[in-house]
Amino acid sequence: MTDDRQLRVSKIENGTVIDHVPGGQALNVLAILDIDGTGGEVVSIGINVPSDRLGRKDVVKVEDRELSQPEVDVLSLIAPAATINIIREFDVVEKHRVERPDRVTGILQCPNQQCISTGDEPVDSEFDVLDDGVRCVYCDTITREDITAHILV
Ligand code: CTP
Ligand code: ZN
Repeated sequence: MTDDRQLRVSKIENGTVIDHVPGGQALNVLAILDIDGTGGEVVSIGINVPSDRLGRKDVVKVEDRELSQPEVDVLSLIAPAATINIIREFDVVEKHRVERPDRVTGILQCPNQQCISTGDEPVDSEFDVLDDGVRCVYCDTITREDITAHILV
């Protein structure tokens, strides 16, 4: 929700606004997008800003960049209510709610070193998406905390 009296983070001309991120998750969103500042990306962030819908939310605005589907899939795991807004010439030209997939393939690494998906076998990692985490389909290891530490792509 935009507060007309006060816009905390400036509007952008072109790029992507990731809105309705749970309060405190913005830095994990940047990790998912593999943004640490050294690539020169122009990024504005609001952390724990007031929101009618969520109480507190984070907002991440990345200029001149759109997100890939694997990035959106991982994002949906930490920010299930996020809205992705594509901005062109200051207008919102597309708005999507992220969708949580039932399964994610090849984008997270199983934390179990013995798992067949982490060895030399040509087996893509595969996880069932749970309400509160992900479960490896090969070894049933559940990852709840710190999903962003296991990103492969
Ligand atoms: N935004 C932006 N730069 C623009 C246009 C919009 O940074 N040139 C941001 C707004 O600040 C907001 C998000 O993109 O965080 C979505 O914009 P808009 O759809 O106009 O806002 P709302 O109607 O409040 O969105 P929603 O209904 O999804 O809450
Ligand atoms: Zn596993």
